[in-house]
Amino acid sequence: MYILGMESSCDETSAAVVEMAPGTRRICSDIIASQIDVHRLYGGVVPEIASRAHIEAVSRITAEALDTAGLSLSDIGAVAVTTHPGLIGALLVGVNFAKSLAYGHHIPLISVNHIHGHVAAAYLTDPTLEPPFLAVVVSGGHTSLFLVKTYTDFEEIGATRDDAAGESFDKVGRVIGMPYPGGAALDKLAYEGDPHAYDLPSPAIAGDTLDFSFSGLKTAALNIINSAQQKGVELDRAGMAASYTEAVVSGITKKTGMALSGPARGVKTLVLAGGVAANSHLRASLEALCAKRRVRFVVPDRSLCGDNGAMIAAAGYFEYEKGRFADTSLNASACDDM
Ligand code: KG4
Ligand code: ZN
Repeated sequence: MYILGMESSCDETSAAVVEMAPGTRRICSDIIASQIDVHRLYGGVVPEIASRAHIEAVSRITAEALDTAGLSLSDIGAVAVTTHPGLIGALLVGVNFAKSLAYGHHIPLISVNHIHGHVAAAYLTDPTLEPPFLAVVVSGGHTSLFLVKTYTDFEEIGATRDDAAGESFDKVGRVIGMPYPGGAALDKLAYEGDPHAYDLPSPAIAGDTLDFSFSGLKTAALNIINSAQQKGVELDRAGMAASYTEAVVSGITKKTGMALSGPARGVKTLVLAGGVAANSHLRASLEALCAKRRVRFVVPDRSLCGDNGAMIAAAGYFEYEKGRFADTSLNASACDDM
């Protein structure tokens, strides 16, 4: 069946058509209208501007997704839309658009959790992937470890208690003069610096917990940067990028290793997902961990790590299979739970 997936939770408006069936997982189109250039002027996402930009793009993007797939709405078996979590005004644009499409064309409507969507990107990259597995979801808003028990049943076993890894990369990137979002630029710059140039605290909270805290790490880095500025000392930008990346990557790798020896013991696959899954250092580190533990490592293609409609369509398919349909009372929520 063909599923139309719609995503508008933050600063990307996306619509995609994915063909899903037992043994088939195929992306027919995945159209993304990024608002990054607009938000870059302000150094971060401005929610009101994001909502307006989604309104401007959503209709055109959806038509393009159908066109590229060579399909019309009458071929679509379900419309899946991100309902939570995210920016409420941004989410409401996608939800209301999807609701009207579904109602007007008598197509089943499905509500998708954005985080489940990120994990579902891995199903599109590896057609043989199936639960159970351990998922590390690292994005601009989340840093979590999930036991994915079935396609629709997720248990969170670890999470950040404050900032997310992506958000902290972006903040440090901004302070060392990178345009928003700094994550990808920091990834590159880190290759040019010494990962031990600066002594930074680990985001892995000490003890048995699988939780993280990125605010202490972020503050420590900002203090070093500000103090260098005040003293008129030139900051080793590449050294900071490398040291910061090293702290984030080793903290996430440490807790993932603990999860594989703890609540995820016996699990044979690790999935890395979310926008920060594009980070080459994190990919390499978790791949090495998996090789050591004899666990299969699956990470979506880079094009599927950031927010996109295809991942929402894929996650929607599994909700469809469970018979979980929404109606015109469907709403959006900024929170992790509806
Ligand atoms: O999943 P995503 O597209 O949006 C949210 O759901 O938040 O993630 C966006 C985040 C941004 O913080 C961005 O800087 C980060 O992913 N990101 C990266 C890289 N590419 C994107 N962070 C580190 N290294 C990268 N290569
Ligand atoms: Zn996301």
